[in-house]
Amino acid sequence: MGFLQSILKQSPFRGTMPAGRVPLFARGRPSLPFPHPWNYHQPIRILDSFFWRADEVSGPARHTRYLDVPGFDPILVTRDPRLIRAISTITSDQPGHFDRDTLPSSGIARATGQDTLLYSNGASWKHQKKIATPPFARTTLFQPERFHDFESLFRHTVAQRLEVMQRRLQEQSSSAAPPNTAALDVELEPEIKALMLEMLVNCFFGAQISYDEIYDRYVPALDRVIAHIVRDTVLTNVGVPLHRLPAFTSGLKKDQQAKLIFEELTDRVIAQRSACTGLWGHFKSDASDDALRGNIRVFLAGALEATTSYASWAIAHLARHPHIQSRLYAEIHSINEYSPEVLARCTVLNSVLDETLRLTPSLYFHPRRATAETQIDLGPLPGTTEPQTFIIPKGTHILLDVWHANRHEDHWGVTKTGYRADEFHPERSEKLATQDRGDFLHFGFGHGPRFCPGKNLGQLEVALVVGACVKLFEFESLTNSIVPRAGVSTKPLDGVRVNLRPRVMNAAPIQTASEPGNSVSAASSPATRCPFGFGGKSQ
Ligand code: HEM
Repeated sequence: MGFLQSILKQSPFRGTMPAGRVPLFARGRPSLPFPHPWNYHQPIRILDSFFWRADEVSGPARHTRYLDVPGFDPILVTRDPRLIRAISTITSDQPGHFDRDTLPSSGIARATGQDTLLYSNGASWKHQKKIATPPFARTTLFQPERFHDFESLFRHTVAQRLEVMQRRLQEQSSSAAPPNTAALDVELEPEIKALMLEMLVNCFFGAQISYDEIYDRYVPALDRVIAHIVRDTVLTNVGVPLHRLPAFTSGLKKDQQAKLIFEELTDRVIAQRSACTGLWGHFKSDASDDALRGNIRVFLAGALEATTSYASWAIAHLARHPHIQSRLYAEIHSINEYSPEVLARCTVLNSVLDETLRLTPSLYFHPRRATAETQIDLGPLPGTTEPQTFIIPKGTHILLDVWHANRHEDHWGVTKTGYRADEFHPERSEKLATQDRGDFLHFGFGHGPRFCPGKNLGQLEVALVVGACVKLFEFESLTNSIVPRAGVSTKPLDGVRVNLRPRVMNAAPIQTASEPGNSVSAASSPATRCPFGFGGKSQ
């Protein structure tokens, strides 16, 4: 029936809500509507191709589109927040609920193992959730004393790295004429990434890994593993099993070496479990180290990608909006410690981060799969009384396209929020904070049972890095436009290239944490490498 229906070009979806059919081939489209070896490095263009000329249609079909090729399960792509929310809400281990689709993460599973919170579904996912998420829970992390310890350790680490950079800029400025104008043209993303990994492995898991090792050994290895994951997912899905090929090219050999280094990092983090350092001390579980290994790999690679993406985008946006940077500086310049209460009061910082995640979400689509024929009840459209239903057949691959949902004028535009949807306006978030946020979900951390368990940790890390950066430096972008690149997550294509200038020349070094009990390990004590693009080691 499905095959015939597909040949006859009849929609596989029933119910009162229509979905728009996308042809397999069409002239003038940004890309073919499925990944293949020539377009997989531009996944946002693949999603663009689903919505090519969709705005010429009125009604819900402009936001929900499908590709139906005879002999294959249909692929549904939606940028309709109502549908994204409804499908996310019923993604769990319950009978008839959606699974997270494993197809787009098959390369991740080959790199991290299948036994993980990210990859597994059904009863196995429930089990993973139970054993792996408690240390990240708000109740664990935001317990006042514990939060204070982590926040000051994180802050200390960020401060150390930025302090070195500040000193270098001061040195440069004293030798430059005229004084106080020294600015460096730097790419911040590699530095943000090293800092994020340092916070995760040393502050969170209590490992003692030097910044030089993190920067020179582990970050490049993780970058290579992530690039391999993206290639492997696409090529294996189109029939070139990359993971089965012998390492006869130097590229594949380097990928295998990178995987070994990733394994070594995982070992070093797990080794801290018996020493009860960092949050391991609060990790009460009977699960063996081996049972946790896959999840630790996911946390290391996935959390690093997501937090780097989030902080990189925030800094990239601020670099193009000096007046917002000034407002943020005015709010945070006198804050020396971010308690949960202080963080909650930082309205500009929170709205900058919220708007960042809306306009440029780190995870740009959330994959789902229908485990059974499922009816979605959507309620009536504005101005109508008839509830809408959408019936999705079993096996359908679903891409919840939050990238396009969040930047569409229909959902986030001038009429609804007062600002253009495709522009960065933190004021939008401040305004919406006074309204029912249920109508304005950007899904930056997901929604429903498979919501991100690392939200609190990630949010804290990103807030500290962005806050510290604004406190110490003024930065401006060399270009107005902001172009994304996407793989596992999205990032600015230019690697966050900015002109960086210290705010207060000859100022005392920024305050670092010196609370007892927060002594930073020898490994992460005063920086041996100057971060933020100066290269070489500091004296
Ligand atoms: C701060 C930046 C972060 C962002 C923007 C982010 C975003 C997300 C999103 C959108 C999802 C849901 C995906 C879906 O519904 O298919 C997710 C899930 C997940 N995140 Fe995060 N995340 C971040 C940080 C972290 C951190 C720090 C960790 C762990 C240390 C983490 C671990 C996970 C895991 C394990 C899942 C899968 C949960 C499940 O399926 O039950 N994330 N994340």
